[in-house]
Amino acid sequence: QIKACLFDLDGVLVDTAVYHYQAWKRLANTMGFDFTEVQNEQLKGVSRVESLNKILAWGGVTKTDTEKEELATLKNSWYVDMITKMTPAEVLPGTVEFLTAIHQAGYKLALGSASKNSATILERTQLAHFFDEIVDGNMVTKSKPDPEVFLKGASLLGFKPEECVVFEDAVAGVEAAKRGGMKAIGIGEKSVLTEADKVVSGLDKLTVKDLEEL
Ligand code: BG6
Ligand code: MG
Repeated sequence: QIKACLFDLDGVLVDTAVYHYQAWKRLANTMGFDFTEVQNEQLKGVSRVESLNKILAWGGVTKTDTEKEELATLKNSWYVDMITKMTPAEVLPGTVEFLTAIHQAGYKLALGSASKNSATILERTQLAHFFDEIVDGNMVTKSKPDPEVFLKGASLLGFKPEECVVFEDAVAGVEAAKRGGMKAIGIGEKSVLTEADKVVSGLDKLTVKDLEEL
C-alpha cells in the first residue's frame, strides 16, 4: 500500500525543463553546434555535470575539467536568470490541487530532485510548504538513474521503498524509482516512459484514487 509520494521537480511540478533546454542549447550554440529535442530527453533528470558531458560528446568536443566547470557555471547563470523570475503562475496545471488532495488524504510528501536550484524554484513558485522532506542535488552523490535521491527521501519520511510512489517526467527518473523498488507514475508520454507503472500527461489527470489503485 502506498503511503508516501516522492516528486521530481523539473518537468513534474514546474515547467523548468524548457529553461534547462534553452540554457544548454545556448551553451552548445556558443561552441558551434546544436542538439535536438529528442536528444534533450536524455538530459532530463540528469545532473548538471553529466548533462554537460553528454552535450560535449554530441558535439564531439573535448574540454578540460576546469573548462567544464566554467561551462557548467555559465549555463547555470543563464538558467538562474530565468528561474529567479518565475512566479506561482508557472506551476504546472493541477499541481496545487493534487498536492493539497494527497496531503489531506494523509500521504507524506518529499521532493526528490537532481537540481541544486530546488530551493529557489520552490520559493519562487510557493510550493515549499507542501513537502515534509526535501532531497535535492545538494544532498546526493549519484545522479538518476541511480535511486539514491528517492531512497534518501523514503528513509527521511520513514517509509519502505514499496510504500512509495515516484512522480517523474524523465526516463532516468523512472528508472531510478524502479531500481529503488518503488512504483513510478510517469508524467509525459507512454511511448517515452515505458518503464512507468502508469503514465499521464500531467498531475491534473490524477486523483487520490489513482494512488489507491497502484
Ligand atoms: C534535474 C533536471 O531536475 O536537475 C536536469 O531534470 C538538470 O535537466 C538537473 O540538469 C540538475 O539541475 P541544476 O539546477 O542543479 O543544474
Ligand atoms: Mg524532471
